[in-house]
Amino acid sequence: MNITEDYLPKEMFLKLRDYVFNSEFKEFDSGEKLFSYIETPDDVKEFISNEHGKPILTFIRRAYEGFDEDPRIHCDGIIAGVKPHKAMVLYLNEEGEVDENGTAFYRHQEHGWVFNSDEVEFNRLLLEDSNDLSKWDLVSYIHSKPNRAIVYDCNMFHSKYPYKITGGVRYVLVAFLK
Ligand SMILES: [Fe+2]
Repeated sequence: MNITEDYLPKEMFLKLRDYVFNSEFKEFDSGEKLFSYIETPDDVKEFISNEHGKPILTFIRRAYEGFDEDPRIHCDGIIAGVKPHKAMVLYLNEEGEVDENGTAFYRHQEHGWVFNSDEVEFNRLLLEDSNDLSKWDLVSYIHSKPNRAIVYDCNMFHSKYPYKITGGVRYVLVAFLK
């Protein structure tokens, strides 16, 4: 787990926020869940590539009251058929813009902290366990800060936290790195 404050250069962060507030979000249906997202702009993609290696997938997602409120505890061990090594979350909200929130990490009652199984079990966890809190212990929580980036092993179980946002809109940039 790696935490970087002031991850993007200030100018780029402000420009990115501008883009987020002036873009029309799209919906993506992963099969068991709807996401609201926009694409990561090229200059930010390039910046991430130089820091961490090429993102195999990156987007900006949002959550707000009435949308994206389930825990969906998961790992990012298989993304679009590819196994990334690391995942990154960059928090885009300024202080006071949205409820206090962040990213929580969990221990699963059978798998422990990290996923080390096959695609069948990966999918079963998403369909059966991801919203069943009795299967998980919340073990750590990192709260959001403007322009804070966290990078973690893709096999670590995590979710946004709290699950429901009741004030404001939560914006994060997500990247899966290989
Ligand atoms: Fe994730």
